[in-house]
Amino acid sequence: MPDKSQHFRRYILDSMPVALVTMDFNFKITSFNRKAEELTGFSASEAVGQLCSEILRSNKCENECPLQTVQESQEPATGLEAELTNHQGEKVPVRIGTTAIEDADGNFIGYMEIIEDISRFKEMEREKENFVSMVAHDMKSPIVIIGGFTKRLQKEPTCKDNDKIRKYLQAMDDAEHKLEFLIHEFLEHSRLDSNYLDLKRNDIDLADILKQIIGSHRQIIEEQEIDLQCDCQVIAPVNADAEYINRALTNLLSNALKYSPPKGKIVISARETDSEIVIRFQDQGKGIDPKELPYIFDAFYRGKSKNEKSGHGLGLASVKSIVRQHGGRVTVESTPGKGSLFTVRLPRKLNE
Ligand SMILES: Nc1ncnc2c1ncn2[C@@H]1O[C@H](COP(=O)(O)OP(=O)(O)O)[C@@H](O)[C@H]1O
Ligand SMILES: [Mg+2]
Repeated sequence: MPDKSQHFRRYILDSMPVALVTMDFNFKITSFNRKAEELTGFSASEAVGQLCSEILRSNKCENECPLQTVQESQEPATGLEAELTNHQGEKVPVRIGTTAIEDADGNFIGYMEIIEDISRFKEMEREKENFVSMVAHDMKSPIVIIGGFTKRLQKEPTCKDNDKIRKYLQAMDDAEHKLEFLIHEFLEHSRLDSNYLDLKRNDIDLADILKQIIGSHRQIIEEQEIDLQCDCQVIAPVNADAEYINRALTNLLSNALKYSPPKGKIVISARETDSEIVIRFQDQGKGIDPKELPYIFDAFYRGKSKNEKSGHGLGLASVKSIVRQHGGRVTVESTPGKGSLFTVRLPRKLNE
């Protein structure tokens, strides 16, 4: 019967946040923890006794087998990036660390591999690259417009056609605003990303802020014939930075509008509990795939629901940062095809 310390070792192995696999001299698997089962799709009973290349099927097995590297160099090998094909045939990017196992007398008794799933990290890298090319592209078009019209005006220095000149100047002005907005969004992201905001806290009236935000979206609400309801009960003032809170709530409303179909319904509500102010944005838009939910608050992340809609994937990252720095939290519940509910909770001003 396994003794207590064996059980303890098993619990440790199965609780490890990375896959851990041990092999004997012949590269046959001798143990396989729970994360290894999750990563490869093979159960421990299927894996133990098999050649590691049959189970840990990576693109490095043939020419850069980490076990052979360790065998030849007699040194641990760390940080090897590889692509593993799991039982279901899906490719998973991983980072592998390999070392020889020795007993108390220094005798070699096998190998150990630690395998870390780095798909999220790789995805973030891709998103960042996309973001850079997207920003470069979005910046280029207004610059081309400004440059083009400047040249036309230079070519016709004596032009007396005021309408034409006005048209050129209007187009240049629009392009300049676009550029300014983009640079502002980008700079703000780096400021929010540093996780330190210089909050100018005052007692603010949230119902008032919500009214202002709805007012500034009036045009799109009417154009899209959105049925927008705002159910704000009388709520106590919140000690917060009005401008930042305005920005966070604006982002939530503009997402609800952006990802709702025309004639969709959006309900905004604000309530207070003993300890919190709770603001909800409920839409009946596309909703979010449950697989995407853990990532939508990450900077640069844009989900499937984005379709052709413009954006840089920074809106929700800034909502999260702003709300957090006010001591609150933001959560989401969503059902694809049915809609999404974003909830912001801010601590109530405590009575002194
Ligand atoms: N109300 C919503 N309904 C459906 N999807 C949403 C909603 N809000 C956010 N999302 C998803 O979350 C992603 C991240 O949102 P955000 O950070 O505001 O970036 P952006 O709107 O620029 O794409 C979006 O790309 C979209 O897929
Ligand atoms: Mg957005």
